[in-house]
Amino acid sequence: MQGPTLKRFEEELAAYTDSKYAIGVANGTDALWLTFIALGLGPGDELITNANTFFATAEAMWIAGCTAVLVDCDPKTKCIDPEAIRKAITPRTKGIVPVHLYGQCAPMREIRKIADEHGLLVIEDNAQAIGAQGDDFKIGELSDAVCISFIVQKNLGTYGDGGAIWTNRKDINDRVRQLRNHGSIKRDVHSFGFNSRLDDLHAGVLSVKLKHIKEWSDRRIEIAGMYSEGLKDCEFIDLPYARPGYRHVFHLYVIETKNQADRSRMSDYLVQNGVDAKTHYSIPIHQQEGFPWGKEARLVGSLAHAEKNAGSCISLPMFPELEQAEIDYVIDVVRAWEDQ
Ligand SMILES: Cc1ncc(COP(=O)(O)O)c(C=O)c1O
Repeated sequence: MQGPTLKRFEEELAAYTDSKYAIGVANGTDALWLTFIALGLGPGDELITNANTFFATAEAMWIAGCTAVLVDCDPKTKCIDPEAIRKAITPRTKGIVPVHLYGQCAPMREIRKIADEHGLLVIEDNAQAIGAQGDDFKIGELSDAVCISFIVQKNLGTYGDGGAIWTNRKDINDRVRQLRNHGSIKRDVHSFGFNSRLDDLHAGVLSVKLKHIKEWSDRRIEIAGMYSEGLKDCEFIDLPYARPGYRHVFHLYVIETKNQADRSRMSDYLVQNGVDAKTHYSIPIHQQEGFPWGKEARLVGSLAHAEKNAGSCISLPMFPELEQAEIDYVIDVVRAWEDQ
């Protein structure tokens, strides 16, 4: 149900993100494909993203009928590699969809430059990085639109599913508003559309939680600092890399085992010892069984860094409510891996 609380939350989100418009939708995947459709993208149009993102980034491209073009990531940040983008551009390329993976901004200045050179759209997949910043840019400043997920486990999560788009483009705002509500912006007047509403109830939860994002992001950064300090001597893992000057808000704290053969054993060992370790994401999109399911996809260049990340990543527990004893315990258990 779209009511006054949604309207208020949209205004708050637009103010928080310094953007002209914010539009609530049902989830982060819908935010992406509704934006693609609002921009007139569809069959024959290619969108470029990195192979090591959450599945939904590419899935949204397919839902809109587009071709997903998957390229490699930067081996340090795991965000999209601008050089790989350049190599993937064809006359059919319409846009770039950088993902601010794990809570760190993709290199938007380089991406904007490429987009300007080739006349491309830029749609940021910001499902994981609300509150993050680049060194000299803000999320949304260098793109056509920003898409976010509010699923419960995100940095700004509701008690269920939700999503939003923010943009400075009136045409995107107007079209998404229409598309998300059965093609209607006026009672009883419709054109073709969908049902993808952000419920008033969720908007209320998000409105309250948005006020805490700064403090919760600061706490995530503090916890990441403690992990990195406590684990810095562990030669069997690589620690996350935060680009100088960037505000990485650590949606996830992802380590990589130096030896890929160790990953499964190490993550089982962590779980057996009470540490809720997970993997984000252990199978890259192009290696999922059945890929690409009759949809249009192109892989460009080596995807070695994305594949290495998939084979060696382990996410340690990360949320602002972690207590000191829990943080210390995680560090102790990881360090003790060597004695296994
Ligand atoms: C990078 C990324 N893109 C898109 C999504 C899709 O969001 P949702 O699950 O709300 O549809 C998510 C998270 O779920 C995500 O992490």
